[in-house]
Amino acid sequence: MCGIIGYIGQRKASIVLKKGLESLEYRGYDSAGIATIDKTISVSKDVGKIANIKWDMDKLKGNIGIAHTRWATHGGVTKNNAHPHLSCDGNIAVVHNGIIENFSEVKRELEKKGHKFRSETDTEVIPHLIEENMKKMGFEDAAFESIKKLKGAFAFVAVSSREQKIMAFRKESPLVVGLGQGENFVASDAYPFLEYTKRAVFLDDNEAAVLTKDRADFYSFDRARLKKEPKILDWDPKNVGKNGFEHYLIKEIYEQPLVLKQTLAQDEKKLKEVASLIQRAPRVCIVAAGTARHASIVGRYIISELAGKYCEVYMASEFQYFVDKIEKGSVVIGVSQSGETADVLFPIKKAKKNGCKIVSIVNVVGSSLDRESDVSLYLNCGPEISVASTKAFTAQVLMFYLIAYTMAYKLDEGKRQLGQLTTKIEETIKSTEPEVKKLAEYMKDKNDAYFIARGENFAIAIEGSLKLKEISYIHAEGMPAGELKHGTLSLVTEGVPVIIIAPKDYTYDETLANAHEVKSRGGYIIGISDENNPIFDVWLKIPKVEPLFYPILTNIPCQLLAYYTAKAKGNDVDKPRNLAKSVTVR
Ligand code: AGP
Repeated sequence: MCGIIGYIGQRKASIVLKKGLESLEYRGYDSAGIATIDKTISVSKDVGKIANIKWDMDKLKGNIGIAHTRWATHGGVTKNNAHPHLSCDGNIAVVHNGIIENFSEVKRELEKKGHKFRSETDTEVIPHLIEENMKKMGFEDAAFESIKKLKGAFAFVAVSSREQKIMAFRKESPLVVGLGQGENFVASDAYPFLEYTKRAVFLDDNEAAVLTKDRADFYSFDRARLKKEPKILDWDPKNVGKNGFEHYLIKEIYEQPLVLKQTLAQDEKKLKEVASLIQRAPRVCIVAAGTARHASIVGRYIISELAGKYCEVYMASEFQYFVDKIEKGSVVIGVSQSGETADVLFPIKKAKKNGCKIVSIVNVVGSSLDRESDVSLYLNCGPEISVASTKAFTAQVLMFYLIAYTMAYKLDEGKRQLGQLTTKIEETIKSTEPEVKKLAEYMKDKNDAYFIARGENFAIAIEGSLKLKEISYIHAEGMPAGELKHGTLSLVTEGVPVIIIAPKDYTYDETLANAHEVKSRGGYIIGISDENNPIFDVWLKIPKVEPLFYPILTNIPCQLLAYYTAKAKGNDVDKPRNLAKSVTVR
């Protein structure tokens, strides 16, 4: 959940690192720090977002350095707990992403040997461990020796004031090396070094890299040398920018018509492989967290509708309690934008060990989930920077349509029909955005909101409520419309906003009946539909399409409502409090 980066080369390290941190900030943003080496180690770190920190760039000299942006797990959000962390003598500096589970016992042992700790973090045991081992060996050996003591998920980068090298270690948390000319980079993902090099080496679990400015060597944790083939990343660094939009979120919402085209451009051989795996499997378990799970719920309806196959959808953090009961030969589908969500990776690794086939629907090529999978389908929706996921949701839902059509041997027909939705998405943004901007002024003063729908659009009700919650901080709940009268209706009083997703499909009449239940309690009804209705206080008009495709359109006004309400409240739309883009701890 943190972002880490290291640089060694000819450039002023602090400039490369600060810029790199900006593109990593979506991973965590409660505090940040940079350390550089120019004979000694200098550190500048503080609480707050990178743009607000008073960086002492003059102090940060040298061409070697490491940096970090934090999402606190151990120890409060304080300057002392911000990374980098140093050894007692200040000659070792470390930045870390993950959790050292056994840090308290390691800390106690080191304190007995006289080490003084400055922070409450788990991370700080690493520089002290290396320092302790350097009493008997060199920096590189000491670093390798130290990892033997560490339990948990970690990716860390370490430097020593006495050596012109960077040590990097990966166990479960992501780490990628960028290979340059006369310079090398290491980071939590490739965005920070894309403008300098497209040659990337993704480290696997229990692997390490030793970087100097002229070479990069790779080892397993037990020091066996590894030959790692660099991947050439055809990612356009410009895509990591806002392209003139005020926020990444609204940029990514507007990117969805283009994303549709890119996602439809799938490798048909792989689609057919996945379709036949699902068709033949005794059981199909779709495992995902947050927004990705909501997309998977739409997927379950569509695959059952088009291909007559029932798939179970699991909350990733709960699937671990079932995974050992899943029969051998089952297909487990991991759905994840980042491909680094620990709650998804953990049970998937177990399922793989138990003889299940692993399929992943992932956006980040080369991510951990991608590399754990027998077959990976890529969303092709480009970097998704805003913490609140939007375009990846649409791409994930589209992928399920493609899989279902392939299972039904109607892929070409399906692609033709789906291709026509590009203009429908544009139309939906155009027709609902002006209404939503006005509605946001009403919503911003509300404490609660409810989203209801039926059938496959029920997944849009829970997705819409998640979007509103995570960036506007308004309590929101999404549920099947039929569920409302079984309890939650008691919370609907005069003026309480209820977003009713009621496209003109097989659920329309029943959903409108539920709207009347809400109206008779004074609820303020926001209707998302292709047909207006007098029961709506506000109508968010979507174009008429084949009923099967409504979830792709009904979600757009929900995304816009969350965005404009959060904006009206002056919230940090792209970096909502307490959250992070990729949740790499369980
Ligand atoms: C969605 O807006 C959130 N950022 C969060 O729920 C997210 O969907 C979840 O953490 C899963 O992330 P993933 O798709 O990268 O696995």
